[in-house]
Amino acid sequence: MVLRSLIVCALWLLGRWSALGALAADSHTAPAVAPSVADFLPRAPESDGIGSYAAGLYAGYRARRPDAPLYGVMWFDADHPLAFEQRLRSHCRAEGEAAPQSFGWRRHDGHRYGVREVVEDNWRMAVEHVAYAAGETSISENDAGAPTNLALRVQGTGQEGRNISLIFYVLAQADEMVDATQSPAAFGCPQPDTAVTPGGDVRLACDADRLHWRVRRPLRGSIGSTAGRRVRKKRRRDSAPRLDSSVNSDLGVVHVRAASVEHGTALEVATLVGQWLSAHRRVRVQRLTSALQAQYGEPTDARYEQALREHWERLQMNPSQWMPDIADGAAPAGTGDIAQQPLPTAGKRPNVLLAQITVRTPFEIVASTGDEPTETLVQRFESAAREHEHRFAATFPALYRPGSFGPEERAFAQSAVSSVLGSLSYFHGGIVTEMPGDGPLAQRAGITAPVSHLTALPSEDKFPRGFLWDEGFHQLVVQRWSTGLATDCLASWLGIMREDGWIPRELALGLEARSRFPADLAHLMVQSPRIGNPPTLFLPARRLTLALQQAFPIAELDALEILCDKDGDMDLAEYTRTLLDVEVASCRQVAQARAAVEATKKLLLERLGQHFTYLLQTQSGMHWHGRDNETLVARDGHYPTTLASGFDDFPRAPYVDSNERHVDLIAWMAYAAFMLTDIQADLQADGAMAGGSWSTAALSHFGRNLTEALLHEHWNATEGTFCDGVARPTKRAEPSTALAVEHFCHLGYPTLLPLLLGLLPANAPHTGELLRAMADPNRLWTPYGLRSLSAADPFYLRGERYWTGPVWVPLNYLALAALHEKYAREPGPYQARARALYRSLRDAVWRNVYQEYRRTGYLWEHYDPQTGHGGGGRPFTGWTALTALIMDEDYRGVIPNFKEG
Ligand SMILES: *[C@@H]1O[C@H](CO)[C@@H](O)[C@H](O)[C@H]1NC(C)=O
Ligand SMILES: *[C@@H]1O[C@H](CO)[C@@H](O)[C@H](O)[C@H]1NC(C)=O
Ligand SMILES: *[C@@H]1O[C@H](CO)[C@@H](O)[C@H](O)[C@H]1NC(C)=O
Ligand SMILES: *[C@@H]1O[C@H](CO)[C@@H](O)[C@H](O)[C@H]1NC(C)=O
Repeated sequence: MVLRSLIVCALWLLGRWSALGALAADSHTAPAVAPSVADFLPRAPESDGIGSYAAGLYAGYRARRPDAPLYGVMWFDADHPLAFEQRLRSHCRAEGEAAPQSFGWRRHDGHRYGVREVVEDNWRMAVEHVAYAAGETSISENDAGAPTNLALRVQGTGQEGRNISLIFYVLAQADEMVDATQSPAAFGCPQPDTAVTPGGDVRLACDADRLHWRVRRPLRGSIGSTAGRRVRKKRRRDSAPRLDSSVNSDLGVVHVRAASVEHGTALEVATLVGQWLSAHRRVRVQRLTSALQAQYGEPTDARYEQALREHWERLQMNPSQWMPDIADGAAPAGTGDIAQQPLPTAGKRPNVLLAQITVRTPFEIVASTGDEPTETLVQRFESAAREHEHRFAATFPALYRPGSFGPEERAFAQSAVSSVLGSLSYFHGGIVTEMPGDGPLAQRAGITAPVSHLTALPSEDKFPRGFLWDEGFHQLVVQRWSTGLATDCLASWLGIMREDGWIPRELALGLEARSRFPADLAHLMVQSPRIGNPPTLFLPARRLTLALQQAFPIAELDALEILCDKDGDMDLAEYTRTLLDVEVASCRQVAQARAAVEATKKLLLERLGQHFTYLLQTQSGMHWHGRDNETLVARDGHYPTTLASGFDDFPRAPYVDSNERHVDLIAWMAYAAFMLTDIQADLQADGAMAGGSWSTAALSHFGRNLTEALLHEHWNATEGTFCDGVARPTKRAEPSTALAVEHFCHLGYPTLLPLLLGLLPANAPHTGELLRAMADPNRLWTPYGLRSLSAADPFYLRGERYWTGPVWVPLNYLALAALHEKYAREPGPYQARARALYRSLRDAVWRNVYQEYRRTGYLWEHYDPQTGHGGGGRPFTGWTALTALIMDEDYRGVIPNFKEG
């Protein structure tokens, strides 16, 4: 009986399997670290695992919980004049003379392990971290147990003998926690425990479970093995200060402090350290002058002046810039080895503990939250680095093919991918939202209850917060590396979504994130539920269902479930091995797969579907809302900006009109509809979208209808481009021609979108025409990629020069995806043109981004169409990191798969 039903099932399975077999054969870009079905069960933004989730810090580590302590290190080059005023390295800064030459993540796995490198004049700093669960030996992601322990290794290399002052700290964060603001004293340590152990380690602890940071005696640092042991000698304060002691070196000496900051943010800690250091220098200047006076009498004495000159430079520059002794000019006597002074915020419990140690390059120091021997931790770093190299090579095999890329090009791609993963940040705070009503926006801003959020960042310096428009592109990179992480991030964004489907376009959650918002743009912090943004979360969506099919044969789920129902917990492996590419070993696995399918339906069909419905309902008439006559582009004043579209200053109609129709919005909506149909098909979930009103047939009809509208109402044959339009009533009576559309034509990214998103039929003359424009150096082509606005447009490179000409990687990525997946693939009159364009465009884009990285040390926000030079924000390891996928030719699932006609 059992056997018979199995045979029936087996035949049935075989018949249906061919489609999936074809899929597997086509997937040379399949990630080597195959997702497991558990990756499709979204985890909440909160997690006990510790990682580099503090946004925009060079070295800040925390668990993803609002009350998680922050472990960090900041540092300055003590040999540099104005060392700590301008060069205290705490929060990522790329602009200005005092900024490092460059910084980024060399390696990062998004989870357990990362290496941050900060390049300075003549020396460089590497901060490596690894998170692990107690007793665990490998960092591979499937290990059980949240990695709640953290080890850090800092290494300074380059010019030898530079004096670098490191400040390790642990902060009991409060930021925007309701409890904390009500009662700041409740946070922090009743009895901080800070000490240098006999072995030379520094212990910063408050209550062993919650805050514990152990900074190990330096392994290297030219201060030798005695370094950590040399704690500060008691200074004799009662007698007059001696000249040499006022300029003595603090090399190797450890200074420890406990303090309290009001809100518990990292910014406050950095500010406090800066204040301490400058107060200390003031004290030392005073001491020097009184020592000189004691020796030489009046400042008019020539010897006084000479001695002052001799000592001044050393005083300014030598590493004796340290944290204690600052409460006031005359520090209390007997501060001894470890200074425990009255705190600036006296009366409150300390919530930050710090240890400063000054060492000389080359140095190596390990710190950890646990108490393992230092050698064990060093081994952990070595094996984590090896595992990472292996995983990168296994995930991007095409980059290692003989004749494809050299080691430096691979290192660049590795850094690009790692920087997206390293930017993953956790936020907690309220959303500043526009409330209904009349009157100026500023008076109608309210703040919601705090929410938790996990997101990648466009830029760790310029944009250290979440951006919806960018995030869809980020998640293409994240998904390539880890389906589980991409699922979590998508779930976080869709979790923040309001019930009606609105997602704020820019999320500065918490005090720290808000205080990094540029003051001149503060009005943009207020998020309006009336205003949409391109639905880019659809970009990575389909990759999830494709990955799910790879992890488990969704199409066979029903059949396998029937088998399991019949025979209980039987061993399926034997049967499935001969029938499927994927081995399904147990009924437990089948049940898990069902849960994964349900979770994916909920996320991609219900939640993302709700977002689609929101856009449809609010951006009525198919134009971006929030366009305003008052935002005429500053310098030219010819048309208002359209921030909601993401293409801020791209030229549009010269005035705002409720009958406007924007090509890019129509294209995005058609794209979203087609993506939903593909996802429904993958999940065998016809009509399963929220409300049940969208059957697969209705969605694809809607998508085709919009595409038709583009072709018939927005194509201007004279201009050879799609054009934004304003619908005008005509005098003619027939309803079908009741509207005429007046065109506003500007050839560029928004108007190319129908092609970039793969909506145009491969053999349509419009496709041929646009491909020609893309290859034309007088219009869109540059040796660095496609420009955002045609060089023949009157607004080319005018205004803010943001989207009026510069080359942007994400839109070039879409162009390459559309060419590779559709126009160069489908036979027709333009196939040859599309193929040639694909090859030259891919080369142009990745080579220029790579060359600029070599030249400047950074990936950039956009690239100059005339010189290829990077411009805008840096490091822009958000969507510019798609360059790595371009090198790898991974465009999987980005272009919808619909049938035309
Ligand atoms: C580091 O400090 C020592 C003593 O304070 C000084 O002699 C040396 O020149 C400094 N190193 C550099 C690179 O300036
Ligand atoms: C914007 O300005 C144009 C031209 O002055 C005017 O016709 C239009 O009504 C204005 N739109 C809005 C929304 O104020
Ligand atoms: C198709 O588009 C037209 C306008 O171009 C609209 O009136 C009609 O309702 C649309 N049909 C569907 C099914 O979306
Ligand atoms: C198409 O573009 C031409 C030239 O710019 C213009 O004269 C014409 O009015 C446009 N067509 C429509 C329908 O607006």
